[in-house]
Amino acid sequence: MTLRVGFLGAGLIATFHSKSLRRSGADVAWAGVYDPDSARAEAFAAASGARVCDTEEAVLDGCDAVYVCTWTSEHPRLVAAACDRGLPVFCEKPLATSPADAAGMVDAVERAGVTNQVGLVLRASPAFNLLRDLIADPASGRVMSLVFRDDQYIPIQGMYGSTWRADPAKAGAGTLLEHSIHDVDLIEWLVGPCTDASARSSALHGIDGIEDAVVATLSLRDGGHVALISVWHDLLSRPSLRRVEVLCERAWLCLENDWVGPVSWTRDGDHGTLEGEALLAEVERRGLRQPTPGGSFAAAAAAGEPARPDFRTGLRAHMVVDALYRSAASGGTPVSLTEPT
Ligand SMILES: NC(=O)c1ccc[n+]([C@@H]2O[C@H](COP(=O)([O-])OP(=O)(O)OC[C@H]3O[C@@H](n4cnc5c(N)ncnc54)[C@H](O)[C@@H]3O)[C@@H](O)[C@H]2O)c1
Repeated sequence: MTLRVGFLGAGLIATFHSKSLRRSGADVAWAGVYDPDSARAEAFAAASGARVCDTEEAVLDGCDAVYVCTWTSEHPRLVAAACDRGLPVFCEKPLATSPADAAGMVDAVERAGVTNQVGLVLRASPAFNLLRDLIADPASGRVMSLVFRDDQYIPIQGMYGSTWRADPAKAGAGTLLEHSIHDVDLIEWLVGPCTDASARSSALHGIDGIEDAVVATLSLRDGGHVALISVWHDLLSRPSLRRVEVLCERAWLCLENDWVGPVSWTRDGDHGTLEGEALLAEVERRGLRQPTPGGSFAAAAAAGEPARPDFRTGLRAHMVVDALYRSAASGGTPVSLTEPT
């Protein structure tokens, strides 16, 4: 049966998900969309075929599954409303502005028994999946260090133009929570659980509660180390760029850009670089291709099955980010992390 999908929030990421759902070929129909910015709701409806609704309730009452794509502080309340109706829910990252609220959301979806997926979409990236496979290859040996640099122009301007990202009550915090929660999630997904976290941070734009320059270190269970640099600058020609460099006992591996590389590697007697179509072909050959986040959510929601990555995965990333903030507040003292559940 065709799944009727509703949207709460009609901004940048809602539009991304709507297009991604369309491309996935999933058997879905666009139901209602609500955004207090009615021009955004109208534009979203015109592009997708969704019906503009006057209230959140009207969206929830007229759909079989819902995307929560509002600014972050609205997520917990809207997810609770979806759970009250037993609706499968896709919620953007970060789940909430605090780890306590994120934990409450995990309880809510698990108690309601609803399919739940968090917007940690880079787990579906072909480039990151190839990098992960190269790291896991026994020929690489153990991971000794990983350096993750993530830089973006501060997204209160340019194509993001979202003033809420300068408001800690709506965004929770700055670059580490709002943007690099992806990176923290990817780091543990790539190289395994971290055992402690340490960070220094600054707010060079002078916006209270919105840090824009963070240097963090994380220790890996097997003895290696991670350095994460997360910066919000004013270089408008760099909307969002990641670079990851991994040194293993017998390999150097490097990823640039979020989706299709280049990914490069050097081992004794073996080196190369892949990007674009060639990278996609290699990902296919290795059996690493992932469904689009929208396609996998729609399939899981229609079948009433668990989706991946779920809210519990999102909560783990919140716990690591929170440890980094607590460390930064004390000037960089390491904070211990428990094993993920
Ligand atoms: N997964 C990703 O890669 C990714 C990328 C960008 C943003 N995000 C996350 O997605 C969320 C939205 O970000 P965005 O870039 O789309 O912001 P945006 O400003 O483009 O859109 C957010 C929209 O939510 C609307 N809104 C606020 N309260 C609402 C409510 N109660 N009901 C319905 N709509 C409401 C606002 O009017 C606004 O139009 C944030 O949590 C952000 O962190 C995730």
